[in-house]
Amino acid sequence: MTAPHIAVEHLGAAYFQDPYSVHARLRARRPVSPVNMPGGTPAWMVTGYAEARAALTDPRLRKNMPGWHPEPNSIFAALDLHMLNSDPPDHERLRRLVNKAFTARRVERLRPRITAITNALLDDMSTRSGIDLLASFAFPLPITVICELLGVPVADQDDFRTWSATIVSNTASPEVFQAHATAMIRYFIALLAAKRHEPADDLLSALITARDEGDGLSENELVSMAFLLLVAGHETTVNLIGNGVLALLLNPERGLTA
Ligand code: HEM
Repeated sequence: MTAPHIAVEHLGAAYFQDPYSVHARLRARRPVSPVNMPGGTPAWMVTGYAEARAALTDPRLRKNMPGWHPEPNSIFAALDLHMLNSDPPDHERLRRLVNKAFTARRVERLRPRITAITNALLDDMSTRSGIDLLASFAFPLPITVICELLGVPVADQDDFRTWSATIVSNTASPEVFQAHATAMIRYFIALLAAKRHEPADDLLSALITARDEGDGLSENELVSMAFLLLVAGHETTVNLIGNGVLALLLNPERGLTA
């Protein structure tokens, strides 16, 4: 018996313009489809709800993939040892260290400061016309919040924006990727050294203390954690605000009516 031929979906620019119709088309055919990522890596896209739930709770599916990691002694190992690439028990060990900073109560305490940053950005926008939402609001809001939480100088935000956009894109050339990833690693190594010398009331200083008190965090894990929190803490929210506002502009009837 020959296996049925299943067309591989190539995820390119059209997918990123409108992922929902691609998801709907694939879901109508089968719950799990073979795809090629933008950089060419083959992957499976799970579009069925039951199958996604089953996959997310199946211990045979791993995040820490053998053969996927940089050489342990290469400089890139310093960006690689974080929660998104870890399975239990390493994942729990890393997660425990930051859980306290993200309890509902701790996050609620950030509300007045986040409201103040939001209001200041909106006030500034209201004085101008022809606004770029991403540059004026969607990026500065989350980057300021995550920088303050971690204890990273907000003044360096343009540098991280460039480095982090390269690192999360699947299309940067190897030379640009190498240059930007190296710049980010050097930045974090220097920042962590400065904080070890002069700790402050911030999450990075707390993580350094945990590491120095032998709480199971290697030096590379510490840099990787700083990298993950900074990148995960803003890229997603920038896109959420941008895509959310675009969706409301395209479908004004779905806006708040109450
Ligand atoms: C709209 C905003 C956000 C979205 C859509 C989002 C989405 C996600 C998703 C889908 C994952 C799971 C990824 C995976 O397991 O492969 C994840 C994990 C994670 N996110 Fe977010 N995120 C957002 C905001 C944030 C913010 C603001 C922070 C930091 C303050 C953050 C930090 C993390 C961390 C540390 C993980 C790894 C958690 C773990 O493995 O236990 N995210 N996020």
